[in-house]
Amino acid sequence: MSNAKVFNLTVDGEVGIVTFDVVGEAMNTWTDAAFASFNEVLDCIEKKEALKGIIFISGKPNTFLAGANLKMIEEIEQEEEMKQIAGLFHSSFNRLAALMVPTLAAINGHCLGGGLEFTLACTARIAKESKTTVIGLPEVNVGLIPGAGGTQRLPRLIGYPAVELILKGSMLPAAKAYEMGIVDKLVPADEDLLKEAKSFLQDIIDGKAELKRPEHDFSGIDEVMVQARKGVLKVTRGREVPAPMTAIRSIQEGLKLPLEKALENEKELVTQLSLRNETKGTINTFFLKTLTDKPKGMMSKGFEPKPLKKAAVLGFGTMGRGITIDILRNMQIPVIVKDIPEALEPGKVFLRKIFEGMAEKKRLKVPVDDLMNLLTVTSDYSDDFKDVDIIVEAVFEDIKVKEQVYRELCDVVADDCIIASNTSSLPINAMAQYVSHPERFGGLHFFSPVWMMQLVEVVRGEKTGQDTIDNLLNFAASIRKRPIVCLDNPGFVVNAMLFPYISNAFQYVEEGNAIEKVDKALMSFGMPVGPIRLTDEVGIDVPYKVFVGMGVEQTTLKNVVEDGRLGLKKSGKGFFLKDGSVDPDVLSLIAKKEPKEMTEEEIQMGLLESMVQVGKDLLDRKIVNDPRMVDVGMIWATGFPPDKGGPLKWSDLIGLSEKIFGENFYK
Ligand code: NAI
Repeated sequence: MSNAKVFNLTVDGEVGIVTFDVVGEAMNTWTDAAFASFNEVLDCIEKKEALKGIIFISGKPNTFLAGANLKMIEEIEQEEEMKQIAGLFHSSFNRLAALMVPTLAAINGHCLGGGLEFTLACTARIAKESKTTVIGLPEVNVGLIPGAGGTQRLPRLIGYPAVELILKGSMLPAAKAYEMGIVDKLVPADEDLLKEAKSFLQDIIDGKAELKRPEHDFSGIDEVMVQARKGVLKVTRGREVPAPMTAIRSIQEGLKLPLEKALENEKELVTQLSLRNETKGTINTFFLKTLTDKPKGMMSKGFEPKPLKKAAVLGFGTMGRGITIDILRNMQIPVIVKDIPEALEPGKVFLRKIFEGMAEKKRLKVPVDDLMNLLTVTSDYSDDFKDVDIIVEAVFEDIKVKEQVYRELCDVVADDCIIASNTSSLPINAMAQYVSHPERFGGLHFFSPVWMMQLVEVVRGEKTGQDTIDNLLNFAASIRKRPIVCLDNPGFVVNAMLFPYISNAFQYVEEGNAIEKVDKALMSFGMPVGPIRLTDEVGIDVPYKVFVGMGVEQTTLKNVVEDGRLGLKKSGKGFFLKDGSVDPDVLSLIAKKEPKEMTEEEIQMGLLESMVQVGKDLLDRKIVNDPRMVDVGMIWATGFPPDKGGPLKWSDLIGLSEKIFGENFYK
């Protein structure tokens, strides 16, 4: 870290220009050093009586100030520490707001969280309409509230619309922020922000600027917040997630108080909130997202990706179709798909339908026809395969079929072609013997529906080369997937973690706990669906076969599958009826065991602890080399609640890791 001061004041005639820059960092954030420097500058301003106004502007070309440093907040354990940090934000911004001269924030680039709260303590804001200018209070999305004045100053500036902005953590382009009254003046992208800011500040000093500061009537606040609460609970499926709930409380209580008291209340609320496990869990999820948003950081240093100009997909069934959709829409390169003749036309019809749906929702960058023109379907290994750079195999889950496919394929493709299997239960190491270049072969395990599920597991077989892993990561990034890397292992990471979770859930049902009760226990924990419904939705035969593959015969699943119930979506019959209730006819298929009634908490802990045990085993056996791989997998493949930070982070946060293993997963 450099010793350079973050905030620097220069005097230009009667105006002070404060430039700030956290040297050596890509983004400006509020750190201890930044605050110390900011307060020194305020000391100076307070002493310089000749100054008529101040401009605050970033020294970085494309970023203003992106808020608090989240690492700093994540590491806080003591209430006193957080009190001090919250106190620093409040006292500094209150000092800024109390300056006797007008202050103007000149915004270019990210102006988020504590960055926007800083500008809200200024007299006015001017913003450049550049692509990088985004303005908002996204704290709720990282488990916090805008607790440096945001829950008070934003509603007082723009009225009730602030409630939605804060609860959704919306980030607005400059023009939208202007329209909503957050920004007072816009500067076109090609104009000089500082020059415009100087002229606008002069207008403010001269009393010529028109600043819209309407009086807002907050007498209906209770009713507005009742509605806001309903909206939040709808999104969280009835769960009282602390961050939005605290934001609601801070706004509702604060708007009935004078600003000074309201800010004190907000400070106390943010202090208490930031000490909660849910906040630390959400911040962890934010870091996991950042890590996997751009998987380049997961590739070897100096790696040069193989250019991917043409791809092939084998199998045009559920998965092959999904994979083809994502290659076409994200990479716009030619794709050849091979399957039996009868599967080709229905596959094409399916793709067109999905693309048309995406186009309707404006989610496609190119016309549907252009994408369909990049697709070639075939039933044999034509010369078209010769210059393919990458192939994803998604044919029947049968080792004999796979063997034949790989042997035929390797006769036609180029030596440097990368081949990946989407198998969910066959060993990558077993299939590697059928390919001519096992170093260029690995696993790419997608989740269904592919175009909606972000996760992909990149599987390293014994012979897979590092270069192939890097190229598979690059491919995953090109089709906008969030990858994790693991070694070959039954169920890889996600299905291995789900295995005892699902199997114990069925055991609890067999011990007399109602299906509804078991599912509800996990939904109140925050899972999007309970384990029994999850089984029904993926197709009951899928986990059944996975269990058989692992040498376990789950009797209830066997009975249900043999009864022709493959799940409501798959075969029209499963554990549930269309109205969501349990199908009474399935009850007789449950293999009854010695009754053992459990509480909701016992069910939750029983299932989740079994998951955590698998996570420990995956790390001990080096299937993954980082607990974050497990947590990324579970959040983005199963919807594990983001405010828990992933099963292993959650286990650390509640003290379970320390209790059962004597140490935390995250060091
Ligand atoms: P599917 O049965 O829907 O499709 C398989 C396709 O492969 C069929 O269209 C079939 O005609 C075709 N096929 C069979 N032999 C072929 C050959 N020699 N050459 C070309 N095509 C051939 O199966 P699904 O569900 O798409 O599964 C495919 C693979 O993906 C399997 O390995 C499965 O384990 C895996 N997987 C499945 C998931 C799912 O949720 N369905 C999730 C993740 C992986």
